[in-house]
Amino acid sequence: MNKPFYVTTAIDYTNGSPHIGHAYEKILADTITRYQRLSGREAYFLTGVDQHGQKVQQSAEKQGRDPAEYADTIAGEFIALWDKLNVRYDGWAATTDPRHKACVQKALQHLHDAGQLYKKAHRGFYSVRQEQFLTDKERQPDGNFGPEWGEVVELEEENWYFKLSEHVAWLRSFAASHESCVIPAFRRQELLNALDKAEGADLCISRPRTRLQWGIPLPFDPEFVNYVWFDALMNYISFAGYLADENTNLPRFEDLWPADAQIIGKDILVPPHGVYWLIMLHALGIPDDKMPVLLVHGWWNIRSSSGQSEKMSKSLGNVIDPAALTATFGPDAVRYYLMRDIATGQDADFIPDRLASRYQTDLGNDLGNLANRTLNMIGRYRSASVPEAGPENEDDTALRQTAATTLEAYRSAMDNFLPHLALEAVWKWVAQCNQYAERRAPWTLAKDPAKGAELDTVLHHLAESLAHIALLVSPVIPGSASGLMDQLQLTPAQRATTLTNLQWGILPPGHTTGKPSPLFPRIDLDAQQQPE
Ligand code: ME8
Ligand code: MG
Repeated sequence: MNKPFYVTTAIDYTNGSPHIGHAYEKILADTITRYQRLSGREAYFLTGVDQHGQKVQQSAEKQGRDPAEYADTIAGEFIALWDKLNVRYDGWAATTDPRHKACVQKALQHLHDAGQLYKKAHRGFYSVRQEQFLTDKERQPDGNFGPEWGEVVELEEENWYFKLSEHVAWLRSFAASHESCVIPAFRRQELLNALDKAEGADLCISRPRTRLQWGIPLPFDPEFVNYVWFDALMNYISFAGYLADENTNLPRFEDLWPADAQIIGKDILVPPHGVYWLIMLHALGIPDDKMPVLLVHGWWNIRSSSGQSEKMSKSLGNVIDPAALTATFGPDAVRYYLMRDIATGQDADFIPDRLASRYQTDLGNDLGNLANRTLNMIGRYRSASVPEAGPENEDDTALRQTAATTLEAYRSAMDNFLPHLALEAVWKWVAQCNQYAERRAPWTLAKDPAKGAELDTVLHHLAESLAHIALLVSPVIPGSASGLMDQLQLTPAQRATTLTNLQWGILPPGHTTGKPSPLFPRIDLDAQQQPE
């Protein structure tokens, strides 16, 4: 049996509400998962929330709340958003889950027993306000620490360290010899460049309990809690069943691991995933042929009113709320825009007007109109029964052949995690269908009884194309695709067609179609504007 295609994402910090960057990553993962299933492969999608650590403890304290209650409330916002956006995961990775905690403690104990962890005192400058040690990087040119750090004291503190430096040589050769360990290629180069410069410092993995309580205690030294990143990174294996007891209701690790697409943003490649994570797995005894594939995406920036591209940030007040966009445009418009307007790996600008215009143009005018006119004409001219195709002219043949060429382009794009190119290929076909309808003018053919066989071919080819298109768009806009399949009255077997079996001829002669109704209704944006 083939192993399921295992998709995971970064787990989101529960110290603030979800933003458009979070939504993008989850929709990308959901699209990839749905595409694998559409291709006939089993898939497993894990996502979740990163609940421990200083940031969450501090945010909770500021509001006078218990960190567990606070983190769960914010986690609820993420869960509600994924539900609205039709992001359908198979496993939920919340780091406060006792099964995760048990796995992290077992792994730490294992590394401790193997001599991979040691305790060491560190003396340095500590910001009381930010609750962190400062390094020379934080010094101003004049040698002092800036006012943003508040009171800075010299302090000595013991902590536990992981012998990261012992494994840097292994990582260098692993990353150099495994071409697709990081995708896209330029991101792997980024990791290789960073490793060239790596000084080989070990990784501090603890905080004294006196400073941080909101974390997983070290099993061999309970005066300390485990500190990010170790806890967070472990989610990819803890929720895949690594070191799990029987009856924990988790997947079997041997069946699921490694991740085929571990999706992360560019900011957390070096060092957390590219260095710490791969080395952690190696130190735990995971062999080279079971290392995950890191799929690294770029960032959505915000186009300001002056046309500048700026980073999304709370202080600039330009954070885009995906829940509000979904309420206005529906989940599929948001999903379509986020998959269409960025090339995986690169950054892109989020432009609200573009979302609105893609909704109106690509979805409404192009796909929606094609569905509407096709179903209308089959209803009117052929009593809602898809005719058998008659003889073809060149134009008809070209349209039929586009099914195969589009499928090929689509699959090659999706296999390379490039949904924007897959969508581009499908929308070329949609445009071709609409132009074909204009040229072949079924409304004119219908007036001439001698053109009946020609009309059959045109209506058949349009309906058949539409059925294929409904399948191809389903990973990105599942709700609308399903609505389109309903209107086409596809049978359960037709709906379950996999891409490996997808061939011209889904609709048998005489297949009955339903009534068209707008898939992407016009939205009156002025009526939606909130008064100031
Ligand atoms: O980093 N555009 O959590 P996080 C695209 N908890 N992606 C973005 C983005 C943007 N503007 N802003 C953030 C964390 N992201 C850790 C991860 S994994 C073991 C722990 C992406 O909530 C970011 O790159 O800050 C990351 O992949 C994800 O959102 C979560 O970010
Ligand atoms: Mg972040």
